[in-house]
Amino acid sequence: MSKTILITGGAGFIGSHVVRLFVNKYPDYKIVNLDKLTYAGNLENLRDIENKDNYIFEKGDIVDEGYVNDLFAKYNFDGVIHLAAESHVDRSITNPMEFIMTNVVGTVNLLNVAKDAWKGNEDGKLFYHVSTDEVYGSLGDTGLFLETTSYDPQSPYSSSKASSDHFVRAYGNTYGIPFVISNCSNNYGPSQFPEKLLPLFINNIRNGKALPVYGDGKFTRDWLYVVDHAIAIDKIYHEGRNGETYNIGGFNEWTNIDLIKLLCKQMDIALGNEARTAEKLITYVKDRPGHDKRYAIDANKLKNELGWEPSLQFEEGLMKTIAWYLANEKWMDSINSGDYQKYYEQQYS
Ligand code: NAD
Ligand code: TYD
Repeated sequence: MSKTILITGGAGFIGSHVVRLFVNKYPDYKIVNLDKLTYAGNLENLRDIENKDNYIFEKGDIVDEGYVNDLFAKYNFDGVIHLAAESHVDRSITNPMEFIMTNVVGTVNLLNVAKDAWKGNEDGKLFYHVSTDEVYGSLGDTGLFLETTSYDPQSPYSSSKASSDHFVRAYGNTYGIPFVISNCSNNYGPSQFPEKLLPLFINNIRNGKALPVYGDGKFTRDWLYVVDHAIAIDKIYHEGRNGETYNIGGFNEWTNIDLIKLLCKQMDIALGNEARTAEKLITYVKDRPGHDKRYAIDANKLKNELGWEPSLQFEEGLMKTIAWYLANEKWMDSINSGDYQKYYEQQYS
């Protein structure tokens, strides 16, 4: 059945993989990508599908009520997959207000417009909110985040995402908007902006620059290949139950320092360098304020209910990721100029 779906933040890292999957897999759907093209949005990420008949790009801000209203009137959306956000913890520490505007006000704005547009005609509609495992806070050495784990966000980023999750549930409960939420662990893969750990370190190794490891490096994250996240979003969008939350994770925990050492090893091989060349760049730096110790997801609800599992082993995913960045040096080099350099100097000087 044909549908018109609004995907927000589709020019970003995860959004571009979701847009690509939907545009290619569902030729009968019309996919509208709404993106403000902040520093993190890049239309280069979508060059391969930009001329497809079922794809439309709209540049705009989810915070702008009039604009979002007009967009709903223009396209009569059946569904929204909402990924647009400010997404980097370190930036949220220096500029929390930007996160409140986009992640909280922007989400509530979208919900308001969807509520009014769908009023009395909610059947077959869906507001899919893409969120993060960081809303659950930080784990100790044991335990996993379940869908029932209480929210306990610790950073301005995770607080803004937690707030947006609450508003989505409140709009479902109060106004009857059909919704689903997923909370995913750390993603990695092609076209991630080089402020997040893996692309930043790949870029630095490529340029022989120091690898800034925060604190003692013993912080743990659960890593998932971005295409597997996009596949999970597709499954949940089509088969998830109204009003439910699904955790998405890689069943794949690594301490930062072990992950970085594996990355260094694979980068030496990919670049044809002597063993242990990249490891020499590791530099321990001041810790991130309020740094969450450990995230780990129990994704068994998604596995048992919808039959989703990560498709890639981590070593294989990491090798594919490195190969992509090395084959797309122009993509990286275009980012490495201007504003990125300013950010880098501020963050790491
Ligand atoms: P990203 O920063 O790469 O992309 C965000 C996109 O949103 C960009 O294209 C940007 O231009 C756009 N955007 C920002 N503000 C906007 C606004 N006001 N109006 C319209 N567009 C705007 O982020 P990402 O890593 O792809 O994350 C996407 C979503 O997934 C976010 O909601 C994030 O919280 C969530 N998430 C990310 C991860 C991860 O590891 N990256 C893990 C779990 C969940
Ligand atoms: P990041 O990619 O920013 O994701 P998140 O904070 O959302 O998990 O960071 C992943 C981990 O890597 C986190 O524990 C912080 C650490 N880190 C560093 O040690 N150095 C860095 O330069 C960056 C960006 C992150």
